[in-house]
Formats: sequence, C-alpha cells, structure tokens
Amino acid sequence: MVAVTMRTLLGFLLMAWVPVYAAAGQVDRTETTGIRIDNSTVIEACGVCHVTDDPQILSRISYRRTTPEGWQQTIKRMVSLNDVVLDLDEAREVVRYLSNHLGLAPEEARDGAFEVQRELIEYEYEADRDTEATCSACHSMGRILNQRRTREEWALVVAMHRGYYPFADRQGFLEDGMVVREPPAPNETPERRHPMNRAIDHLAEVFPLQTSAWAAWSANLRPPKLEGTWAVSGNHSGNGPLFGRMTVVAAQGSDVEFTTDATLVYARDGRSVTHTGRSIVYTGFQWRGSSEVVGGDTEWRQVMFVERDWRSISGRWFRGAFDEIGLAVTLTRVNEAPVISGVHPRAVRTSTNGQVVSIYGDNLPAELVPADVDLGAGIQVLEVVSVTPGAATVRVAVSDGASVGARDVFVGRAIAERALVVYDQVDRVAVEPLRGMARVGGVIVPKQYEQFDAVAWHDGPDGKPRTDDDLNLGAVEPTWNLEEYSATYGDEDLRFVGSLDQTGLFTPAVDGPNPERVGNRNNIGDVWVVATFTPEGAAMPLRARAHLVVTVPVYMRWDSWEMGR
Ligand code: HEC
Ligand code: HEC
Repeated sequence: MVAVTMRTLLGFLLMAWVPVYAAAGQVDRTETTGIRIDNSTVIEACGVCHVTDDPQILSRISYRRTTPEGWQQTIKRMVSLNDVVLDLDEAREVVRYLSNHLGLAPEEARDGAFEVQRELIEYEYEADRDTEATCSACHSMGRILNQRRTREEWALVVAMHRGYYPFADRQGFLEDGMVVREPPAPNETPERRHPMNRAIDHLAEVFPLQTSAWAAWSANLRPPKLEGTWAVSGNHSGNGPLFGRMTVVAAQGSDVEFTTDATLVYARDGRSVTHTGRSIVYTGFQWRGSSEVVGGDTEWRQVMFVERDWRSISGRWFRGAFDEIGLAVTLTRVNEAPVISGVHPRAVRTSTNGQVVSIYGDNLPAELVPADVDLGAGIQVLEVVSVTPGAATVRVAVSDGASVGARDVFVGRAIAERALVVYDQVDRVAVEPLRGMARVGGVIVPKQYEQFDAVAWHDGPDGKPRTDDDLNLGAVEPTWNLEEYSATYGDEDLRFVGSLDQTGLFTPAVDGPNPERVGNRNNIGDVWVVATFTPEGAAMPLRARAHLVVTVPVYMRWDSWEMGR
C-alpha cells in the first residue's frame, strides 16, 4: 500500500515536471523510444507509479541504463523516500532484470569501474571540467559515468536533486552558486548560463540512452560459462603479491550464479589464505561476489570484469566495510596446459649468483629441469629448488653484463610476458599513493584507513627518472615513519592524527574533540609518510615520502551497497 506523505507528493511532482520541461523547450519527448520491460516482478513492483500508455514501457525506468549498483541505489531511494515496499527476493529479481536488460556494455562500464570497485583514486573528468565541478561536489563523478539516459532523464535527475536536496542549487546548480567555471559564452541564453543546464547538455550528448555499444552487447548477451579452474594473481597493497587458484562451480538451478573456492599464497612470507564465496554475474560480464577468509572474520567483496572470451576476469576484492583495504586481482582460465601467473621477486640484480626466484602458476610440470625454465638473456638457471603444480622455485645467476630491462618468462611452452626485470641498481623508491587521505573515526563512525606501498624503480635506459622507460622493480619493505608536515606552526599533528605500522598501514585516531589538544580540537591534521629503504648492495638508504591528510569522517553515506550478497 502506498502511503501519501509530503515526500510522495513531492515525488509525484518530480515525475510530473516532465511536461514543464518539455514546454520550456528543454526536452524533446519523442527523441528516443524507451526500452521494453517484460518481467512481471518489475512491472508489478514498479509499474503502479511508473505508468505510461504502454504497459511494457515504464516511465523513467525505460529511459535509463546503469550498473547493478546504480539500480540498487535507485531502488533504495524508492524504498526510503518514495515509500515503495519490496521484499528481498523481489528486490534481487528487479536488480537482476534491470541490470541485464537496461545495463551497460563492457566498453561503457570501463571508465566508471573505479566507482563500483570502490577504489579511492584521484580522478579528473577531462571531457568537461565544468560538469565535473557542478556534479561532483557531493558524490563522485563515477556515479554519473555509469549512467546512460535520455536528455529528459538527465534533466529529471537534476530536478530530483533540486526537489529533495534544495541546497544543490547553492552548491552548484545555479549561476550564482559556488561553482567556479568558465564564463558563459556571449551568445548563451540566460537559461543556458546555469551550470546545471550546461551539464545536462553535456551529459545528454556523451551518455545517451541508445548507443551502438549497447545495441551490439545486448544482442550478443548470454550467461557466461565460468565453471572450472582459474589461476589467480593479485597484489595486496602493504602485503605484496599473492598467487593461487580458484575453483568456480555453478550454483544449483542458476546459470549466472557460482560458488567459489580460492587458495592463495602470499609470495613474501608463504602465508596461505582460503576464500570461500559466491557470486553472480550481471549483464554477461559484471562479476559481483563476496567471500570469507576461512578462520578470519571479515567479509570481502569481489567486483570484477569478465572478458568476452571468458578466459580472464579482473578487478578488485575489498573488505566489506573498509573499501580502502583491498587487492587487485586477475584470474586466468586454466585448462590442461601450464600457466604462469607471476614471478616473485619481480626483479633480479646483475652480477649476482644464487638469487632465488619463484614462478607461480598452475599445472607446472612435475619433472622440471633447469633447461625447461627460460628467463632470457643474461640469466642462467642454476638449479630447480622445488616444484609443485602451483609454484616452481629456481636459483639463478645474473651475469655482469646482462642488459637492464624486462624479460619474458617461459616454463616449457607457458609464457608470462615481461614478468621478470633485470636491474643493476635501485635508482629511487616512490611511495604510493603520493597523496593519501584517512578519516578519524571509531567512536561514532568507522575509521577510514590508508594503505601505503613503497615501490623500487630503475630510471631505465635514458637514465632519467619518471619517464616512460622507467622499470618498476616491485614493492619493497622499507622502514615506515611519520614526520610533521609544517603547514601550521606548532600544531603538533604528528602527536594526534594516528599511527603508521611497518606494513605502511595508517590507522587514524578517534573522532570527536580531544581534550588533550590545544583548543579541544579533534585529531585531524596532515603529516608526511616516509619510507626509508636500503637496497641490497647499496651504501646509502633511499628515502621517499607522501603527503597524508587526516580529515573528518563522512557522516552521511549515500552509497553503501551490498551487491553480490
Ligand atoms: C510509490 C510510487 C513508486 C514506486 C512503486 C516506484 N517508484 Fe520509482 N519513482 C517514484 C518517484 C516519486 C520518483 C521521482 C523522484 C525520485 O527520483 O526519487 C521515481 C523515480 C524513479 C527513477 C528515476 C530516478 C533517477 O535516477 O532519475 C527510477 C529509475 C525509478 N524510480 C525506478 C523505480 C523502480 C525500479 C521501481 C520498482 C522497484 C520503482 N521506481 C517503484 C515513485 C515510485
Ligand atoms: C548537493 C549535492 C549534490 C550535487 C551537487 C549533485 N548530486 Fe547527484 N546525488 C546527490 C545525492 C544526495 C544523491 C543520492 C540520492 C539518493 O539516492 O537518495 C545523488 C544521486 C545521484 C544519482 C543517482 C540517482 C539514482 O536514482 O540512482 C545521479 C545519476 C546523480 N546524483 C547525478 C548528478 C548530476 C548529473 C549532478 C550534476 C548536475 C549531481 N548529481 C550533483 C547529491 C548531489
């Protein structure tokens, strides 16, 4: 039953704004035909309000495509603000149907992948900095990149903001708002001067409902056959590379749901973890899973792209409540043939004798002799120390004159391109990310951590740092510490913001006022994160640093989601 409240009245007004916009000449209602919906759950759950003359065309819904997260978010708003009542099974069915039939094509979903993979990256929307300024004050641009809509729908989502969140006008939508942008062109009409209208124009042009990419993908769409064995390679920042195998089994009665079992080994210390989980694949390529580490207490999310050849899957696994802690993962299908997924350590130094290198993969031959392992010019395999189907460990000698650069690695006929690097010296280390951010928390809201890594680099053949030929020698394990960042004299941020452990993980202090701090201030501030590392054979340590801002919590989260549960 739909209760009529002020909010629902406002909502209906938002839906009824269409003719007003149309009359103002902003919207051509005939521009695109909507996408037909032939799912009874969707029609029953949503059709009551989203009515048109045609029972299979639902107003608003038929004119918009997005990711599973995008649909889930809208449905949450339908429940929280528009008083829609849905049970969990219905909600799942609606998200599934809409993601598959009003979804994104793989090419369309790449640019906004950071949004669904919950990566905290620095992102700049180069295509139109004004739209970015207008639309990313409250949420990330990623939310917008993952939407395709008719012009009318772009105008209506802006209207939704103005109706529900009137401060949006001040924060950026109107010409006299806070957004700084290019001055309007002389021929712009007063209507066109408002940043929101310019944003609508831009978005309608670059993110339209109908695209050739979607027409082609939706015609070709089918459930992906992912059952079988996959070689996993990952990088867990702060913890280094990990390798292993994942078994994927189709869930009973479904061709898009799977159960998964992965055993992974951390290359640095040999520690092994087992993830058991389940997943669902939307739109033929969007893997949304969750897993639990056996013996652990955290839930991991898995957000990955399935390539159209069903031979590789890649993306990010991250900890449920803490997006910032995660691993980049690539899965490669394993048949009978050997597969190499990576090498540890990533780099070997010239003029060394006896360095141990482990080659990770799957189906590696049990009878392995040095002649089967080819690491390229200047690297001699002295001995096979051990071999299992998942890892071969060899001892190598690297000649004095071996040329610096990446080598393809072969084990029998299996290859990993540019998997091992020969270097003569470490030229520098760099801390990643270069600008980090954490948020105090733990009392009222959760903390937001920040994880740093230190990566060793060789300047490459040109001898110049930060050019295209630089060689990444892999993450190293430096000594970590914090130093004062002198922005405000005597603010003593170092004492209050939090602490950094020896894996580069920064744990912010608690939120709220701190009576021990001058002025009863809270624990925010900014500091340098410093890595000090002495490479093997070097006389002097190398140092690198990154800037860390420790700021206030996000008190309101609009974008929590539970895909894959
Ligand atoms: C009780 C009436 C009602 C029902 C039922 C309802 N909606 Fe809505 N819907 C609204 C109203 C009101 C708006 C306009 C305000 C807004 O966007 O929140 C809207 C807007 C939308 C929009 C446009 C949002 C945007 O991003 O521009 C989408 C998409 C949508 N609804 C999807 C759904 C889906 C899917 C269902 C079924 C699960 C559904 N709605 C069920 C009332 C309803
Ligand atoms: C004043 C803050 C603010 C600004 C500025 C803002 N948004 Fe939003 N936006 C929100 C909030 C809050 C939500 C979440 C609404 C909800 O789902 O409850 C949202 C949600 C959305 C959604 C998802 C809607 C849905 O139904 O899934 C889209 C798309 C969107 N915004 C686009 C834009 C665009 C385009 C702009 C620039 C023209 C913009 N936003 C600027 C606050 C803002």
